[in-house]
Amino acid sequence: MQGLFVKSPILKIALGILGALGCIILLGLVLLTEDVRMADQTDNWAAREIENGALLYANNCASCHGPDGKGLPGVAPALNSHYFFTNRLEDVGYIGSLEDFVRLTIAAGRPSKASSQWAQKMPTWGSQFGGPMRGDQVIEVTKFVMNYQDDALAQTPEEDPFQPFKDVRKPVNEQTIGEPKEAVESAAPAEAGAVRAPDQLFSAMACLGCHMLDQEQSTTNRGLVGPNFGNLAENAATRVAGLSAEEYVYQSITEPAAFVVEGYTPGIMPATFAETLSEEEIRGLVAWLLDPAR
Ligand code: HEC
Ligand code: HEC
Repeated sequence: MQGLFVKSPILKIALGILGALGCIILLGLVLLTEDVRMADQTDNWAAREIENGALLYANNCASCHGPDGKGLPGVAPALNSHYFFTNRLEDVGYIGSLEDFVRLTIAAGRPSKASSQWAQKMPTWGSQFGGPMRGDQVIEVTKFVMNYQDDALAQTPEEDPFQPFKDVRKPVNEQTIGEPKEAVESAAPAEAGAVRAPDQLFSAMACLGCHMLDQEQSTTNRGLVGPNFGNLAENAATRVAGLSAEEYVYQSITEPAAFVVEGYTPGIMPATFAETLSEEEIRGLVAWLLDPAR
């Protein structure tokens, strides 16, 4: 007993400090391995998402986009493509990330594209747009498509299964495959305060997935998902008594629930544009949509 008893106060303090240090180091070690354990767990999750996505892809997408994602001639574009991962966003004028573009395209599809170089339309998959997939399934299949990246970036221009798109603003012969360009950077979110052009917003905000600009809206030619905009100026002036065409279109964008066009389902048109667009951008869109010369 006597041997364990320490008399010197200095020694006592030193032992105390050593003990505390020991505890801190031990705690640090535990935390460190915990981080690794958590990271492993996150990797597991990501791997599981991609695996589930692969199954969804094989069952729902492979028939058009090919079993290896390399597209089928005339049927659907390649997703496992160098071009797709480097230059596609710039050519469509999409402002967000490629992952967002893929997720939104899968969820909304491109059901209302008028004429197309492809045999069939890209179907709508997300349940929020009336498709068969839950939100988490759309995310899983998106992760699977994004997982083509390494494979796609390793392709030489000759190996790229890319089929030029006939409907982007860039002429077919200028849609290059080559090296990743700054372009992908410039497709990053607009700087705070910058006003984005209406035609750019129309694709970036996925309006074109639901509204056709070049088709008239009539009883015999109704837009499938949302009304056609070919004759929007005339229609907008008569929709709501007391609202001018400008006021009506403004309200349609900022508050879609305020008036629902007959024959369409409320809640399909996103109600978030008042937050994601600036006042100036909304005004720009309204003027552009109503301009017969757009
Ligand atoms: C019936 C055929 C068909 C099926 C099935 C199909 N797609 Fe598509 N997909 C298309 C066509 C056609 C396009 C090009 C549409 C256009 O721009 O006109 C397309 C476009 C896309 C794009 C955008 C490509 C780009 O460069 O703009 C993505 C991403 C995509 N599809 C993913 C999927 C996924 C994931 C599935 C399965 C859940 C799927 N598609 C099922 C036909 C199909
Ligand atoms: C997911 C599909 C979808 C997207 C994306 C979408 N809309 Fe709509 N939109 C609809 C539907 C459905 C209606 C008709 C129901 C209603 O009035 O809310 C509609 C109605 C409208 C109307 C009224 C049309 C008329 O004939 O009276 C305007 C204007 C409009 N949308 C503009 C836009 C703009 C601008 C964007 C992009 C910033 C956009 N929409 C994005 C589905 C969509």
